[in-house]
Amino acid sequence: MSKNGAHALASAIDDAERVLEDALEYLEGEPVGTVAARGADHLNYGECFTRDFAVTAAAHLARGETAVVRNFLRALADLQAREHPLEGDRPAAGLMPASFRVSRRNGEERLRPDFGQRAIGRVAPVDAAPWWLLILRAYVRASGDRDFAREAGVREAIERILALYMAARFEMLPTLLVPDGSFMIDRRMGVHGHPLEVQALLYGAMRAARELLPEDHPMQPRLSGRLVRLRRHVCTYFWLDHERLQRLSRAGVEQFGLHVGNPFNVHPRAVPEWLEGWLAEGTGFFAGNLGPARIDCRFFTAGNLLAVTTGLAEDAQAARLLALIDARREDLWAAMPMKMLYPALEGDAWRVTTGADPKNAAWCYHNGGHWPNLIWLLASAAGRVDRWDLAESALELAAPRAHEDGWPEYYDGRRAESVGGGAQRPQTWSAAAVLAVDAMVRRREESDPFAFDADPELESRPH
Ligand code: GLC
Repeated sequence: MSKNGAHALASAIDDAERVLEDALEYLEGEPVGTVAARGADHLNYGECFTRDFAVTAAAHLARGETAVVRNFLRALADLQAREHPLEGDRPAAGLMPASFRVSRRNGEERLRPDFGQRAIGRVAPVDAAPWWLLILRAYVRASGDRDFAREAGVREAIERILALYMAARFEMLPTLLVPDGSFMIDRRMGVHGHPLEVQALLYGAMRAARELLPEDHPMQPRLSGRLVRLRRHVCTYFWLDHERLQRLSRAGVEQFGLHVGNPFNVHPRAVPEWLEGWLAEGTGFFAGNLGPARIDCRFFTAGNLLAVTTGLAEDAQAARLLALIDARREDLWAAMPMKMLYPALEGDAWRVTTGADPKNAAWCYHNGGHWPNLIWLLASAAGRVDRWDLAESALELAAPRAHEDGWPEYYDGRRAESVGGGAQRPQTWSAAAVLAVDAMVRRREESDPFAFDADPELESRPH
């Protein structure tokens, strides 16, 4: 790195620390979380979001600040356990809130959770509980406080999550079937069904629970069984590379029975034309979604990176995925790592799929906009396959620009030309990601508390 580059990075880090400090929310004098964006209370950005806090927690844990993470974890366990009779529609038992705010009235402080009953589109935060489990495991690993996970309140929260997420439903597959907008993309974007990000989170959450619960816990056999089946399913049917495309084009359709080449009846013409040329030699990635006659070939950044961090991807797939990101930097991060997804929906596809949502116009916001917070997941995945060079160059690019622009939530444009039209600033997870990645890159020999090593027990692939 040049001298100027090092100076710009150092001053970005200083400022990011200030943003993080400023974002802290307190309950009875103790830090309990961080707001999504300070100064944006008129929207719900004044709330502490569970998924945003994962990034913040990574920054806190890297700096040895464990108390705020523990307080956050306990607060969410309490909110999950409580009845919410006056909060509008009733959340499913076991759901964790998308966010909470600290309400202050007559000198009294109280946490008010949002399970989606106040959110735009009333979306259900399916990702919140898996994120909570991943944060919990990271906290235990970073602090060494194993007793925390054994406390009755925490143990029961884990069990309530498993009861909800592993319940039998209208489903033939080991994946989790969810409504639209149930994760980071919390608007209509054609991401209902079996979106990759939710499957990767579920995989990570089940691995976390497996690690945190006692070995003789009655849930253990079901956890292992589902982990094996989920991994086999995603690695086989979501994976896209040249070989798979060839097979898809030759497999034929309308096949019945147990052992068929195209069990989901994906019609070859459903595979978009741009894909073949875009897949650089020797690379591959996981499709965004899979269902009957449906394969969503858009590249979803968070889901793909999480698949690597959680060990859902096979080792060879993980390396090929990072190689694709490297080969397609122009498309996937351009002037600000990284794009939420690629390519954007345009024209009629945009109108039909997003419901003509102007915030999600092509190459904006979720629909191909660029989100600085994603460098944290990039670094975590890159570290797992020893591609630290990618984490370093993303940090060198993102940190000075995001700092100069006042830590925007996202950037718009095919190449991230401009600060996002509706972007909040300073957005906490944009600054927190820079802090977390800076620490990860400098101390790469330390293990990432969010990452999972390969586990031979979960890797059998019998067919
Ligand atoms: C937006 C994002 C969501 C995020 C929230 C708070 O709703 O889509 O992923 O958690 O803002 O930052």
